[in-house]
Amino acid sequence: MWHLRTAQGKDVDALQRFVGNLSLATRVQRFFAPLRELPGELVRALRQADPAHCFVIAEADGEPIGLGQLALRGEQGEVALVVADAWQSRGVGARLLAQLLVEASRHGLREVMLETLAGNRGMRALARRGGFDLQRHPGDPELLLGRRQLTA
Ligand SMILES: CC(C)(COP(=O)(O)OP(=O)(O)OC[C@H]1O[C@@H](n2cnc3c(N)ncnc32)[C@H](O)[C@@H]1OP(=O)(O)O)[C@@H](O)C(=O)NCCC(=O)NCCS
Repeated sequence: MWHLRTAQGKDVDALQRFVGNLSLATRVQRFFAPLRELPGELVRALRQADPAHCFVIAEADGEPIGLGQLALRGEQGEVALVVADAWQSRGVGARLLAQLLVEASRHGLREVMLETLAGNRGMRALARRGGFDLQRHPGDPELLLGRRQLTA
């Protein structure tokens, strides 16, 4: 069984292990680059409990199997998520995305965005199911930009 919970600074080491164990394809789909660790900006946000970020962990047997994040910028937010290779296509991503949208509503956001590689079929399907409208990214031809309005 697995569950969702809020991530905190004490989770950084486990999350670094989680990212390091992801396949190259999954890391590129999440970070758009073959990173082997969480970017420093996210590590700092976790450690400092930065109020401009919410992190949600999907956890099984005490280990992360998924990580979702919401960056808060005024009335807009941006979500990103990743699920361990062995756990993909089992509903974890859908639950993470739904929880990030709950967090976005709780913070009073009006709009949530996401970026995905245009060839990422799984994320395209998940985003559309989550109510996002996907368009070509104005700043990068390899990306799609998803937008979802939130009602108050
Ligand atoms: C994209 C990702 C987050 C989806 O998470 P997941 O746990 O695998 O997805 P779920 O099992 O919750 O699937 C939800 C829906 O998404 C769609 N979907 C998921 N993976 C899919 C795939 N490979 N192909 C087509 N549709 C897919 C399906 O519609 C699915 O609904 P269903 O279960 O009724 O078929 C996950 O595959 C992942 O971590 N990928 C690498 C990182 C990444 O792409 N992050 C997105 C950039 S922010």
